Amino acid sequence: MLEGVETVLKICVVGLGYIGLPAACLFADAGERVVGIDASSERVALVNEGKQPFPEPGLEQILSRNVSAKRLRASTDYKECKDADAVLLCLPTPITDKKMDSSFLRAACASLAPRLRAGCLVVLESTVSPGTTRGFVRELLERGSGLKAGKDFFLAHCPERAIPGNTLREMRENERVVGGINAESAARAKKLYSLICKGEIAETNCTTSEFVKLAENIYRDVNIALANDFALAAERLGVSVFDVVRLANKHPRVHLHAPGAGVGGHCIPLDSWFLMEAYGDSRLLPLCRQINDSMPLHAARLLKQALGGGSLKGKKIVLLGVSFKPEIDDQRATPAEPLALALKKEGAAVVAVDPFVKKCVFAELAPLDAAAEGADAVAIVTAHSAFQKIKWSDVRKKMRGNVIVDGRGVLKKAPEGFVLRGVGRGDLN
Ligand SMILES: NC(=O)c1ccc[n+]([C@@H]2O[C@H](COP(=O)([O-])OP(=O)(O)OC[C@H]3O[C@@H](n4cnc5c(N)ncnc54)[C@H](O)[C@@H]3O)[C@@H](O)[C@H]2O)c1
Repeated sequence: MLEGVETVLKICVVGLGYIGLPAACLFADAGERVVGIDASSERVALVNEGKQPFPEPGLEQILSRNVSAKRLRASTDYKECKDADAVLLCLPTPITDKKMDSSFLRAACASLAPRLRAGCLVVLESTVSPGTTRGFVRELLERGSGLKAGKDFFLAHCPERAIPGNTLREMRENERVVGGINAESAARAKKLYSLICKGEIAETNCTTSEFVKLAENIYRDVNIALANDFALAAERLGVSVFDVVRLANKHPRVHLHAPGAGVGGHCIPLDSWFLMEAYGDSRLLPLCRQINDSMPLHAARLLKQALGGGSLKGKKIVLLGVSFKPEIDDQRATPAEPLALALKKEGAAVVAVDPFVKKCVFAELAPLDAAAEGADAVAIVTAHSAFQKIKWSDVRKKMRGNVIVDGRGVLKKAPEGFVLRGVGRGDLN
């Protein structure tokens, strides 16, 4: 199969999450016969009704169109993989105690292996520690099927670069890397992805492609750690790190990232640990992780200093933003959590305002009006665009105190009646 791709293929996509479901929809939209396999029967039922299980622009339309056309359906049963031409594994790979939790991937491989047929192409899309595809994924599939990878069936890793909120367009247009367990596997994976991807598809081996995915995110984590180090220097030197970054980035070969009150999400803070699991000797990566993880506590320190340096007992503090980045509701590994917990530990009452978030486990949520009532200080944690439009004079009237700590470089100068401090803002002291 997949030597030429003139015939309609049967493609099974295992794991109908943020990555698997859009990929399944795109292959169905390209005319292939797609079956999504998921362990969650609720998710399978929703997909079969053509309803999106999570918000993503354009997803519901492409999903319902392909379910109606009978090109896409979902099931909890791996039996569907028996006659598949290709199986995509889009399983979660979270981190527990700085190690990859491989349990989802192992369970999926164990379920797939007895149904794997000769000639099938298996592609791992999950972000993994280098060596995973060639290691336990290959072993589990070979042991359970009695087939040989690279000879009887084909095996590749194809990492995903798409960003939630723009997943469908990025899956179509981004360049991709496919890493095969051998050249034949990479070539077949390239052919498969060329059905949905207009960007260039580069072929390599699977350990390289696993490393490439990590290198992309670690580059950003290290770059942010550097910017955060500059932020601390700027505070000491009496200048704004945001001016330094903006002006340094006018150099054609410099691309400094934004410093701030911490790095969150399910990718950037995790991927260094994936690499360190395979290569434990890095001196740089643990240090960068430590710098970025320390930034929420640095913001808490700035806030405490601005409030006079004493106990925070009896103080009310408003956090602006609890999601890990602007304009989304995702709170995974958000720096708002360690910041809120540090303030609470010092005795402060913490109330959070976030236009995108409906539920938060580490702080009470309230509209800005109510949150500001009697508050001593405000900390800007997420640069939601709505926070650019705040009428600070109205907020000031409700507050007891007058402190703002800006963790994201949102405010250029103190709004009237406020004392402004900020991460990297030595220019304000
Ligand atoms: N979400 C992103 O933006 C993004 C971007 C790039 C890479 N990735 C990587 O892609 C992978 C998948 O991430 P995601 O965000 O799509 O995950 P997700 O949590 O949104 O979805 C995973 C799905 O897998 C299902 N599942 C779990 N165990 C299963 C099993 N044994 N059999 C069948 N289904 C099972 C779950 O029910 C869930 O629906 C991860 O490795 C992640 O790091 C994600």
